[in-house]
Amino acid sequence: MIHEIKNPIINHKLTQLRRKETSPKDFRGIVEDIAALLVYEVGKNFKTQIIEVETPIRNCHAEFLDEKNFIVVPILRAGLAMANGVLKILPNASIGIVGLYRNEKTFEPVEYFFKMPPCINKKVLLVVDPMLATGGSASAALQLLKNKGAQKIFFMCIVSAPQGLEKISSDHPDVEIYTAAIDEGLNENCYIVPGLGDVGDRIFDTLEKE
Ligand code: PRP
Ligand code: URA
Repeated sequence: MIHEIKNPIINHKLTQLRRKETSPKDFRGIVEDIAALLVYEVGKNFKTQIIEVETPIRNCHAEFLDEKNFIVVPILRAGLAMANGVLKILPNASIGIVGLYRNEKTFEPVEYFFKMPPCINKKVLLVVDPMLATGGSASAALQLLKNKGAQKIFFMCIVSAPQGLEKISSDHPDVEIYTAAIDEGLNENCYIVPGLGDVGDRIFDTLEKE
């Protein structure tokens, strides 16, 4: 299932990301903000328990979300900035890391790192990567996680292309996708159009300057 989260605050922040003059520092901060706003939407699916608490006035029943039940999984590199945003909201979640990069010629994902906390089969995984372009990286990451036993996964991104959404929906129909925008498509280099450019380079300030 695909959820495109349309909200004036998210849309405004996305506009700042789209501007090519936005600095790496601002870019990182806004990616974090959007991730935090998206996890608020994903959180509508989460199950709470009712516990008893004592307020300064009297005892009452209140909702409790066991944050230890969640694993935030950034896809390196760009997913790290989104993970920071999600962890602001769920600071006690565990963190798993999937390292993948896209081969510049074939656009196929190449795995270089994978480390998960224990018991991922019993946890809710929040997989984060700002860009869903061809969907190759996200689909490979989701498959690696499923191979390790993951059962409940939400995928969160900031900008997606229809091609990537189709790929994830077909390869992983059980994974719900949350995206802040669905753009027009991909260019000849498989970059999202109009998109945000190379988000890894923009977040880490590794763009080659002329
Ligand atoms: C970007 C992005 C995704 C991937 C999306 O990462 O963060 O992981 O490309 O493209 P796809 O849907 O076509 O696979 P990149 O490979 O540039 O690595 P980086 O984050 O290390 O810069
Ligand atoms: N990776 C990016 O960083 N941007 C895109 O548009 C596609 C893949």
